[in-house]
Amino acid sequence: MNLIFLGPPGAGKGTQAVKLSKQFNICHVSTGEIFRQAIADGTELGKKAKAYMDKGELVPDELVIALVERYLSNPNCREGFLLDGFPRTINQAIKLDEILERQKWHLDAVVNFQASKQELIERMTGRLSCSGCGKIYHVKHNPPSRPGYCDDCGGLLSHRSDDQLETVVNRLEVYKKRTAPLIDYYLRQGIIINVEAEGSVDEVFSRLVNQLSVKQL
Ligand code: AP5
Ligand code: MG
Repeated sequence: MNLIFLGPPGAGKGTQAVKLSKQFNICHVSTGEIFRQAIADGTELGKKAKAYMDKGELVPDELVIALVERYLSNPNCREGFLLDGFPRTINQAIKLDEILERQKWHLDAVVNFQASKQELIERMTGRLSCSGCGKIYHVKHNPPSRPGYCDDCGGLLSHRSDDQLETVVNRLEVYKKRTAPLIDYYLRQGIIINVEAEGSVDEVFSRLVNQLSVKQL
């Protein structure tokens, strides 16, 4: 099964992607996570990406596309892949179509997660992420058992630097201008699945799995 997770920042793409990729044994490629890891490792890619991410702007297409192609060629993506946060511009979507055609892969569905602006802001400003394994928490909706530490690996939890209110507001604007047009792009390909992203993590997950099974995926 080959999927794209589309939807505004904070909609829960990463949270749902971890659950779905485990259940279906497919690889989870999150461009945001790849950039955050590159920043933590102090690589050239990380240095370039950080300048854009800190402002809530998109990293330039040329840095993202080659990266995704490299990750998709990983053997553990042969059983299927879930692209979380890519593509994010029409140009990235066109380039992805070219990669898929070259490799003779196809897309099964593009999941469009939907939530209100107020909910998105609340989720992002309350998010905590583990510095060790990347596990995602929320101060109110999904707190760790021991405050400040990851339940799985004991790593330190912190707020993402782009989850400051001012940056969050810009990310939502950038999404509206540059990424939301992808909904029409994939509607024309007939592969959009809309999933209401409000409600508990488990409620959203069962909606998602139901919608995929309706499409016989
Ligand atoms: P990226 O990391 O992809 O961020 P995003 O798309 O802005 O989305 P988020 O990760 O913020 O939210 P999410 O939908 O994954 O929600 P989550 O599950 O964490 O990108 C970051 C930056 O990298 C971009 O701004 C850009 O600069 C750059 N970048 C990345 N990809 C790029 C690309 N393709 N092109 C160019 N630049 C790119 O959940 C959010 C919070 O809500 C958590 O606290 C979680 O616990 C909580 N939560 C989740 N589900 C629920 C629920 N059902 N109920 C209550 N709380 C919930
Ligand atoms: Mg995410």
